[in-house]
Amino acid sequence: MNFYSTKYIFKLSILIIVFVAFLTGCDKKSDAHKVRIGFSQAMTTDDWRKQMNKAMLIEASMHPELELLLYDGNNDIEKQIKDIENLIKQNVDVIIVSPIQSKPITEVVEKAMNAGIPILIIDRKTESENYTAFVGADNIEIGRNAANYILLKANNKTSRIIEIKGLSGSSPAYERSLGFNHILNQNENLELIASIDGNWEAISIKKEFENLLKNEKNIDFVFAHNDRMAFGAWEVAKELGLEKNIQFVGVDGLNTSNGGIQLVEKGVLSATVFYPTGGNEAIKLALKIVKNEPFSKSNILNSIIINPLNAEIIKNQLNKIDEQQESIKAQLNVIKIQEEKYYSQSNMIKILAVLLIILFSLALYSIYSAVTISRKKKQLELTNQKVVIQRNQIAKHVNVIKKNNEAKFNFFTGISHEFKTPLTLILSSVESLKSDFQNKDKKLRNEIDLIFNNSKRLLRLINQLLDFKKSEDNNFRLKPSKTNIWKFSKAIFQDFKREAKKRNIDFTITTTNEDLEIYIDRNLMDKVYFNLLSNAFKFTPNNGKISITIQDHKNSDNVSICFSDSGIGIPQGEIQNVFKAFYQGSNNYRNSSGIGLHLSKNFIDLHHGKIDVISKKGAEFTLTLPKGKSHLNEKDIIDEPVIDLMDEADYLESEDIILSNKTVEDKDKYTILFIEDNIDLLDFIVKKFDDEYNVYTSQGNDAIEQALRIIPDIIVCDLNLPEKNGFEICEILKKDLRTSHIPNIILTAVDDQQSYIKALESGADLYLTKPFNLKVLSQSIKGLLFNREKLKYYFKNNLDIIDEHSFGVPEQLFIKKLNDFLDANIANSDLTVEDLAAFLNISRVQLYRKVKAILGINVSEHINNLRLDKAAKLLKTSDLNIAEVGYASGFSSPNYFSTAFKNKYGVSPKEYKAE
Ligand code: FRU
Repeated sequence: MNFYSTKYIFKLSILIIVFVAFLTGCDKKSDAHKVRIGFSQAMTTDDWRKQMNKAMLIEASMHPELELLLYDGNNDIEKQIKDIENLIKQNVDVIIVSPIQSKPITEVVEKAMNAGIPILIIDRKTESENYTAFVGADNIEIGRNAANYILLKANNKTSRIIEIKGLSGSSPAYERSLGFNHILNQNENLELIASIDGNWEAISIKKEFENLLKNEKNIDFVFAHNDRMAFGAWEVAKELGLEKNIQFVGVDGLNTSNGGIQLVEKGVLSATVFYPTGGNEAIKLALKIVKNEPFSKSNILNSIIINPLNAEIIKNQLNKIDEQQESIKAQLNVIKIQEEKYYSQSNMIKILAVLLIILFSLALYSIYSAVTISRKKKQLELTNQKVVIQRNQIAKHVNVIKKNNEAKFNFFTGISHEFKTPLTLILSSVESLKSDFQNKDKKLRNEIDLIFNNSKRLLRLINQLLDFKKSEDNNFRLKPSKTNIWKFSKAIFQDFKREAKKRNIDFTITTTNEDLEIYIDRNLMDKVYFNLLSNAFKFTPNNGKISITIQDHKNSDNVSICFSDSGIGIPQGEIQNVFKAFYQGSNNYRNSSGIGLHLSKNFIDLHHGKIDVISKKGAEFTLTLPKGKSHLNEKDIIDEPVIDLMDEADYLESEDIILSNKTVEDKDKYTILFIEDNIDLLDFIVKKFDDEYNVYTSQGNDAIEQALRIIPDIIVCDLNLPEKNGFEICEILKKDLRTSHIPNIILTAVDDQQSYIKALESGADLYLTKPFNLKVLSQSIKGLLFNREKLKYYFKNNLDIIDEHSFGVPEQLFIKKLNDFLDANIANSDLTVEDLAAFLNISRVQLYRKVKAILGINVSEHINNLRLDKAAKLLKTSDLNIAEVGYASGFSSPNYFSTAFKNKYGVSPKEYKAE
C-alpha cells in the first residue's frame, strides 16, 4: 500500500471515529438539559422525615429531566446553613428547605432569594416571609383539631390537661401550641395543668413528664406535638400504672410500625392528627416554579383526626397509596431498565451501521486500488517494453559508434604511420644539410635548424598519437634496463637548456645521489620526461623557473623525481582530471592534444611507480619509482649501454634567438607588434619582417603592456595564448582610446566560422589562418596600413566635415573630441600639448602617436593648422584687424602670426583679407 492510500485510510478512520462519537453522544440527554432541585432536609432520624424523602424521590423519578440533590442537616443548624450555601454556589434551579429552627435559617434563605434562586419552604417555616412558596399543613389548625377532639372526649366534664411541646423556635411547635391553647382558653372545663418543652423526641420529655405525673394527680389528657413524644409519655404513665387513666393525643399519624395509626389501633393513643409530609407536592411545586407555570405561594395540605373509628379506613387508604407508590416505583424501574436496554441497543445499531459503512468504504477502496494497480501494472509493462527497446537501440548505436571510432582510430593510426616515413626522411636530409652548412651562412643555418627542430617536434607528436593507440590496446611491454637515473635525467635536461636560455628561464637539476641506478624503460621514461618538461616550458612565462629534483630516499625502496615550474598551474578543482585522456585545463588556451599526461601515467604504472601532482604556485609533478628489480619480470630486462653525457658547451653552441625589442626605431618604417607564444615562429617572423618594419614581439603575457608602450602601427596576434587569448587582447586594445586606432590581424591555427565571427566582434580587422603564406601575411599588413593611410589622408583633408558625417569609427570620435577642445581654447596662446593630453587622459607620447597615426602629422602641427584655419575664417568674415585676428586665433605675436600664415597660404593675412 503506498503512502497516499495509507493517508487516505487514516483520514477515513478519523472521520468515522468522529461520526461514531457524534452518534453515541446524541443518545442520552446531556446534564445540561436537566432541572436541578436542591433539598436541604433538617434531619433523617425519624420515620416522618424518611417518608418525606421517599415521597420526594418517587415523585422526582417520575420526571427524568429532574435531578434531586439531597442534603441532610443532621439536626445541626450550622450544617444546614452550609448545605444551603453550597446549593446556592451550585446555582441549582430551585432550593427546597425544611428548616430545623426558624430564626437561624432565615438569613441564608434570603441570601438564596437575592441570588435569584427560588426557595420553597416545607413543613417548618422561617421567620420572614421572604421565600417563593410554602408547602405544609396548617399547624394552628392541627393544634385546634387536637383541642376540639379533647373537648369532645371531655364531654363537659372538667378535664386536667398536660401539653408536651416540640422544639422551641421551630414554627410547628409554636403554631400547634397557639391553636391548641386558643380552643382551651375558650372552654373553662379544659384546664391546662402544665406544659413541657420537648425537642420532638421522646427522650426529651420523659423525665419532666414523670415528675409531673408524680406531683399532679388526676391528669385526664396529654397532648403531645407529635406521636413520638406522645408514645414516650404513655410509656412513662405505664410505668407508673397510670396509662389507663390518661388519654394521649399525638400528631403525625404515620402508617408505620409504632406509627401514629398503629398506636391508635393498639389503644396507646386516643387519637393522632394526621400531618402530611408534603414531599411529592414540594417536587411538583418546584417543577412548576422552574417551568414558569402559575403557582400559589401558600400551599396548605389537609389534615384530619385519626381515632379508633377511622384508623382502619385511613390505614387501608394509606396502604393502598403506599402500594400504588411501590408499583409506580417498580414500573419506573422497569422503564429505566428498558430505557437503558433501548439506549445500549440503539448504540449497538449505530455502531454496527458505522462499521458497515467502514466495511463498505474499505471494499470500495480495495476495488479502486485493485483497478489502479492493474492499470499501473499495464503501464509499467509498457514502459518496461519501451525501455528494453530503447536499451537495445542504444546498444546498437554504441556498437556502431564503437566501430566508427575504431575505424577513425585506425585511420589516424594509419595516417600517422604514413607520416612517419616522409618525416624521418626529411629529418635525416635536414640533419645532413645541417652539417653541410655548419660553418656557412648563419641565416640559412638558422632556417635549417628551424626545419630540423620542428620536424623533430612533429615526429614526437605523431609518436605520441601512436603510443596512445598502443597504450589503449594494452600493447606496451616494459623493456627495463639498468640506468643511472642522474645521467639519464641530465641528458634530457640538456636538451631543454637551450630553450631555457632563450627565454631566460631559471632551469636547474639536482640529485641527492649521482650514482643511483634503477631499472627503467629508457624509451618510455624519455617520453614521460619529455612530456612533463614540455608542459613546464609551455606554461612557464619568460624569466620563470623550472627545476628537476631527484631524491634518493636512503631508507626506502623508492626514488622520487620532481618536476616543478612557476607557470600558470592547474585550477584546484581540476587536479584530479589531469591524467584523464583528452583533458584540457580551463586556464589553458594553448593547443594541446590532452593525451601526454595520460600516457605518462600509463607508462609510470607500467614501471610499478606512481605520479602525483600538486599545484600551488605553478605545477609540481612527482614520479615515485621503485628501486631494484624485484617488481620486474627477469626475462623482460634488457641490456643497454651506459649513458655518456655530452659536454655542456655542445648543447648551448647552437644559434641564438634574439627576440630583442628595438631600442632605436627607424622613423621611416612602420612599427609592428607580433603577439605569438611559439618562440620559433616569432623568431622566424622577426627575421622575415625586420628589414621592412620596426618589429616588436610579445609571447602573450605582456601583450597589452607592450601595445600601450609602443603604440604600434599594426598588431598581429595569435589566438591561443597564455593568460589572455587573442580575442580578449584584441577587445581590450580596441576599447582603449590609446590603442583603438591600431589595425589588428588575428593569426591562428583555429579555422572555424565561430572563431572568425568572434574575432570580428572583438574588433579584429583581419582573420588569417595558419599555416600561413608569408606573402599573404605581408600583403595583408601592407593592405591594412595603406587603408590607414587613406583614412589619415581623409581625416587630414576633411577636418571641417569630420564632425558632420559619422563613420562609426572610434578615430572619428577621438578627432572630434580633440577638435572640440581645441576650438574652445583656440584663443589661448599658452595652450600646450600636455594640456591636451591631460584633457584626453592619455600620455603625451600616446597623444603624439595617436594623432600621427590618424592624421599623419604631429599634434603641434595639427594645433597650428586649426589656428590658421580659424584665422583665415576670421579674416574673411569679421571686422577684426590683422593683429586682433592673430590673437583671437591663439598667436602670441602679430609677426609670428603673419609668418605662419604666409607659410601656409602663400599670402600675408593682409593680402588674404583684401582678396
Ligand atoms: C419529624 C417531626 C414530626 C413533626 C414535625 C414538625 O421530624 O418531629 O414528628 O410533626 O417534625 O416539624
